[in-house]
Amino acid sequence: MKGEFMVVQEVSPRDGLQIEPVWVPTSEKVGLIEALSGAGFSRIEAGSFVSPKAIPALRDGEEVFLRMRRQPGVIYVALVPNLKGAQRAIMAGADELNLVMSASESHNCANMRMDCKQSLAAFADICAHARDRGVLLNGTVATAFGCPFEGAIDEGRVLALVDRYLDLGITGITLADTTGMAQPRQVAQLVRKVRARLHPSALTLHFHNTRGLGLANVLAAYESGAMRFDAALGGLGGCPFAPGASGNICTEDLVNMCEEMGIETGIDLPKLIALSRGLPALLGHDVPGQVAKAGRNCDLHPLPETLARQAA
Ligand code: COA
Ligand code: ZN
Repeated sequence: MKGEFMVVQEVSPRDGLQIEPVWVPTSEKVGLIEALSGAGFSRIEAGSFVSPKAIPALRDGEEVFLRMRRQPGVIYVALVPNLKGAQRAIMAGADELNLVMSASESHNCANMRMDCKQSLAAFADICAHARDRGVLLNGTVATAFGCPFEGAIDEGRVLALVDRYLDLGITGITLADTTGMAQPRQVAQLVRKVRARLHPSALTLHFHNTRGLGLANVLAAYESGAMRFDAALGGLGGCPFAPGASGNICTEDLVNMCEEMGIETGIDLPKLIALSRGLPALLGHDVPGQVAKAGRNCDLHPLPETLARQAA
């Protein structure tokens, strides 16, 4: 298995915090991002530049980007829905813009208050603005594996959106399972089709564990050639405009799976677990991640006393 590698993009500062009801102070957000970059991530989605009325929890995007200490080599990503968001993100120094719309009209209207055609027009404006400004562009197809309002999403629709993004000059593509409706065989099939359109290093899979299939979907995508995955510390996350949404796949659970399988991530798992264990105090509630509770396989327990005495 030597030589296998997975890129894990940490999204807790954006997807993780956007749905939290408590206000996380800017200094805490900055501290989280700095600690994450210290744990070895090469890519961190550090915030979004959306309407502060839509996502009040992330209304301090500018301050976060301006105040955080940047680790050389780390790409700091900002989610944007429209030209105004892109202008704000570029001014704040984002390395990459993540342009987001949904494959389903209904979720796009609920989330972005635009139909898909309007979102694509906004993307064209963003691409024109971003040209020559030295910023990378990634496009996310949300609800790519199912929509909480419409159900199944036609694969052809997702592929047509991917083609449209590539035509606009967007070089990275994310397929997002916004409310955890994907299953592994569906994932494998879509990944194979998208891989025919772009290099696997430019493709990201974004899974939520809403129905418990998150890591199974990761593995199906990985075995079909995908190599980059979004995940959130502690399994935080969710879209506030998708009923029933819940957390992203949990970063430390994913990194633990990779380590056990011999897939390198470059991420320091003990550091990650320590960070995750600090989340309940920051947010005021338990978080779904499992490895931070159970420990790693190598964190062994002492023998029960009776057995220990026999062994002595
Ligand atoms: N950043 C900050 N403010 C923005 C903005 C942005 N990117 N885009 C629009 N606004 C402001 C406008 O300036 C306007 O302000 P005003 O009321 O003070 O004049 C107000 O928001 C309404 O603008 P409008 O263009 O009519 O937006 P809208 O109300 O139709 O909302 C979006 C459209 C896309 C801005 C909004 O739905 C949104 O931010 N959605 C993102 C939701 C999200 O992040 N979901 C989770 C991640 S997938
Ligand atoms: Zn998400």
